[in-house]
Formats: sequence, structure tokens, C-alpha cells
Amino acid sequence: MDFYDALAPFYHLIYPDWNASIRRQGEQLSGLVAAEWPGTRRVLDVACGIGTQALALAEHGYAVTGSDLSAGAIERARAEARLRGLAIDLRAADMREAHAVHGGGFDLLIACDNAVPHLLTDEDLLLAFRQFAACVRPGGGCLISVRDYAHEARGTNLVKHYGARVENGKRHVLFQVWDFEGEHYDLGFYVVEEDLATAQATTHVMRSRYYAVSIARLGELLREAGFDHVRRVDGAFYQPLLIGTRSDRAPAPPPAAPRSFDPAR
Ligand SMILES: C[S@@+](CC[C@H](N)C(=O)[O-])C[C@H]1O[C@@H](n2cnc3c(N)ncnc32)[C@H](O)[C@@H]1O
Repeated sequence: MDFYDALAPFYHLIYPDWNASIRRQGEQLSGLVAAEWPGTRRVLDVACGIGTQALALAEHGYAVTGSDLSAGAIERARAEARLRGLAIDLRAADMREAHAVHGGGFDLLIACDNAVPHLLTDEDLLLAFRQFAACVRPGGGCLISVRDYAHEARGTNLVKHYGARVENGKRHVLFQVWDFEGEHYDLGFYVVEEDLATAQATTHVMRSRYYAVSIARLGELLREAGFDHVRRVDGAFYQPLLIGTRSDRAPAPPPAAPRSFDPAR
């Protein structure tokens, strides 16, 4: 089963208070966007998941289009947009086919929460970034947020805790376990769900794989794909940001490639 399809009902629990995070991220991102690319209106989120940033930006008045590889996450994002009375154009799509699916003319493209390291090779990242460049008008922006793997230990059985959240009479304890293999790692995402009335516990485990690509390398690939003024921004968001502005010399997008993201791993 797809990692993010299975994670979609629990994804908000990653945050201690998802709605507060939506609000905070909306303020952070809209402030940065106004400073970097004034006049931005049309935003494309190519890894929108359940919608943390897409909802946040729509609440700030941007015209948001969102897509994600996970149909389950898109289904939840649709429900969350409906709940908030927000009109967001949402569909399931691979970011490596972003231009083929969405076309061009966007003022800004985003992919947050360490989504791009799901692409497992430099070739796939470049393919996606070329599609990103084709989606954005010249002078428009690209903003991705990523983990800084320079500060992550390598090894196996590495446990990353998220903590415990209580919701609707259930306690959820969330953690990841990482196993590195060279520059890639397999990740198990564990959600232990305990019914507080009966003390009955169920464990959900979802598996995926990431490329622990450096931010410097991502910057090089963004430049190669047709973005200028590429730079890292720290302290503006909960993760480091990498931003760039589409130049006039962005190459035409190459044909979309076959999928290499294997959510079952
Ligand atoms: C950590 S989540 C980010 C979720 C999202 N920003 C949110 O707040 O809900 C990473 C997302 O990247 C998506 N993803 C992974 N590979 C993808 C691909 N090739 N194309 C589009 N989305 C992809 C996953 O389905 C997942 O929703």
C-alpha cells in the first residue's frame, strides 16, 4: 500500500497542533513570497500532501493548485479545503510530470516538507526541476523545503521521535526508524494507536525510501534546470528553504520519465 495513502489519516498528528502550524506556515511563507516575488498570485504545490502549505496559502488569498503522488493524501486535502471553504484545484500527479499535467504560467512553485528527496537519483531530481522551471513564468519563483542531511547521523536503527498526541479518545505515539544504505535510507513510520478507554493498542507501520541529498547538490540541480539566484534561506520556516527565480533561459522540459519512487519500500 502506498506510504502516503496509509499515512494520510494520521499525517496531521506529525504536528502538535496542525491548524496552528497551517496558520504559522501561511504567515511565514506569504511574508517570504511577498518579499522575494512581489505580485505572486498563482501558486502550484507539487507535493501538497494533505495540504498544510496549500491550505495555508489559499487562506492568504493565493490562487492555489495542488498535486501529489498519493491519491489518498489528495482526497484528504480536498476534504480539508472543503471544510475551510477554500477553493483549491487538487489532483493526483507525479511531480516529474508537473508541466505535462499543469502547464505553465504559475508565479510560484512549491514542494515542502522534504518531498523532493523521495526522488532517488540526481537524474530524477533534474527531470522534476526542469518540469518545475517549465511550470513557472520567467521571473517566477521556486521554493522547496528540505531536511539538512549534513546534520543527520548515518547508520541503522536510528529512531526519530515525534511524540504523543491525544485525539478523539485515542493516544497516538509516532516515530520513524531509519536504516541507511550509502546515500539512501529506508524509513519505517510507526504510529502506535492506543484506545484510552480499553487500553487496546494497534501499530501501523508505513515504509518508504529517501535520498539523503545535500542542499548544495539540490541547489546545483535547480540552477541546471533553469533557476537563477538560487540560495538557501534558514530561520524563515521550520526547515531550511531553497529558493530560486526562473530565468529567461529555462530549457524546454524533457519527456516525463518512468516512476522510480517506490512507496512500498
Ligand atoms: C512529507 S510529505 C509532504 C506533505 C505536504 N507538504 C503536507 O503538508 O501535507 C511528502 C509528500 O511528497 C509526495 N511525493 C513523493 N513523491 C512524489 C512525486 N514523485 N510526485 C509528487 N508527490 C510526491 C508524497 O506523496 C507526500 O505527500
